[in-house]
Amino acid sequence: KTLVVLLSGEGSNLQALIDACLQGRLSARIAAVFSNRADARGLQRAADAGIDALFLSPADYPSREAFDQALMNQIDRYQPDGVILAGYMRILSAGVVRHYFGRMLNIHPSLLPLYPGLHTHRQALANADGEHGTSVHFVTEQLDGGPVILQARVPIFDDDTEDSLAERVKTQEHAIYPLVVNWLTEGRLRLIDDTAWLDGNPL
Ligand code: GRF
Repeated sequence: KTLVVLLSGEGSNLQALIDACLQGRLSARIAAVFSNRADARGLQRAADAGIDALFLSPADYPSREAFDQALMNQIDRYQPDGVILAGYMRILSAGVVRHYFGRMLNIHPSLLPLYPGLHTHRQALANADGEHGTSVHFVTEQLDGGPVILQARVPIFDDDTEDSLAERVKTQEHAIYPLVVNWLTEGRLRLIDDTAWLDGNPL
């Protein structure tokens, strides 16, 4: 199975996917990594792993739709079975989301439906939540609102900062994202209307 990963930054989740492929926990080939930012460390991680690493500049396109159309054309050259968002910090237009319906996953650093959008760690701390976490979900037209497939929880400690909490969450992300992506490549996941299914059971 062939995967394409979209990211904008650090790429630690990409690294977890690369490592899972190397270790045989993820039976797939990551064919390409796209970034909307030239300086994304994730591009370097991809290149280091021998994966096509491509930067597409939003500034080169007149509109979000034009950029997304170009992105889609580039992605589809790889004929991916899955398109994996791993810290892709740009809203995708409806056409892209529809095109990859049931094939596109995202990981979001909160216990969805809590805290869609930005600054999730800050919000969890500000609300004095006792726990926080991360969610892998199918991408639908609702931002961070697609059906959740798997979540991981972490405790919040009194002395936590946004950074310490983010790091604890990422450790969990690196464990669960390769697992869920592997379910997708094994054909065990389905998205029907607005429900995610695993092995024929609704989640
Ligand atoms: C992760 O926390 C992910 O949940 C969010 O963006 C972050 C990306 O981190 N969508 P990295 O670039 O994979 O290190």
